[in-house]
Amino acid sequence: MTEAKSAAGLRGVAAGSTKIATVGKEGTGLTYRGYSIAELADKSTFEEVAFLLVEGELPSRRELDAFRAELRAARGLPPPLREILERLPAETHPMDVLRTGCSALGCFEPERSFAEQGRVARRLLAALPGVLLYWHHYAATGQRIETQSDEPSIAAHFLKLLHGRAPTREQERAFDVSLILYAEHEFNASTFAARVCAATLSDFYSAITAGIGTLRGPLHGGANEAAMELIDRFATPEAAVEGVGEMLARKAKVMGFGHAVYRSGDPRSPIIKRIAKELAVTPEEQTRFAVAEAIEALIEREKHLFPNLDFYSALVYRSLGIPTPLFTPVFVCARTSGWSAHVIEQRADNRLIRPTADYIGPAPRAYPRASERR
Ligand code: COA
Repeated sequence: MTEAKSAAGLRGVAAGSTKIATVGKEGTGLTYRGYSIAELADKSTFEEVAFLLVEGELPSRRELDAFRAELRAARGLPPPLREILERLPAETHPMDVLRTGCSALGCFEPERSFAEQGRVARRLLAALPGVLLYWHHYAATGQRIETQSDEPSIAAHFLKLLHGRAPTREQERAFDVSLILYAEHEFNASTFAARVCAATLSDFYSAITAGIGTLRGPLHGGANEAAMELIDRFATPEAAVEGVGEMLARKAKVMGFGHAVYRSGDPRSPIIKRIAKELAVTPEEQTRFAVAEAIEALIEREKHLFPNLDFYSALVYRSLGIPTPLFTPVFVCARTSGWSAHVIEQRADNRLIRPTADYIGPAPRAYPRASERR
């Protein structure tokens, strides 16, 4: 057997080029199309960011109005898609619902040519919250909700479909900023999967479905749900220090910490942490926040690891009344903008993505007859 020479997990390997985002690059940090994440989170809306990612530039006022109007108009679900969602078992993982919903929409409204890619991207951005929440309500109570709403933003639309009432301005803005932070992150696993799919010249829905399936895992998108479950385990900061201390002693991974690219901090984390703190007004929320901070301090002290975006997002989503199993699906609703931008970029200058592997299996050998095998 020969030793593998390849970089495990492709760490540090540039697997292509992009004009969409920088992640952890010296001097630039996280930027979308050249704009810093801090400035986008402070000054933009999610719709402006989605337009920026997909179209390449921030929208003019008129472009933004048209973009918002198209997204608002495209929220309805075709009746056969609603029927499919109704037939999914109530205990289905919500990420599987989105994966299925995305794929099924591609059957009812296929991308007939790449000239339609912008329309498909906007349709998915507009429709995926409805796919998720139509199933969510139907599975829980049998209620068939209307997936159209007059809410101007995707953030308010999502919260309205979930809770049946419009969010406050503060809730809408908190959620909107979280969507901005989740929108894009260069060649992460799910985006890379979407690009690999797109590079075969497959259709848009297939590429986004590949992204959803890849995001589902706990080492990627699922970390925010795992972080919430962790925080929920402890009633006090002291109990958290003891419990997480035991986890570290047995070398267990603590979800919501560390990052494959960032080495000294996730620039999105202070932004989402500030929002989590602002939203923590009830004694219960304040205790949860104190538990989270105690975990953060312990892991920083013991492992020199920092929280990534998923850790404090969990608290923000809890304060917004979002059930934990819907956290990663929220990530999908945001990241569809980044995935779409990458699919479009891949197609614009395409080459099939086909790496090679270091072979570490048996040397060439004689084929044994069945009677000679063990
Ligand atoms: N909890 C405990 N230890 C961790 C850790 C975590 N969350 N993340 C990394 N480590 C440890 C590793 O086990 C490794 O220890 P070792 O050298 O003793 O084996 C060391 O820190 C270095 O790990 P690193 O090379 O930085 O991790 P990676 O690049 O292989 O993996 C992640 C990056 C994101 C997969 C990893 O940090 C992780 O699993 N985090 C938890 C899941 C998560 O939050 N994912 C969301 C990412 S945005």
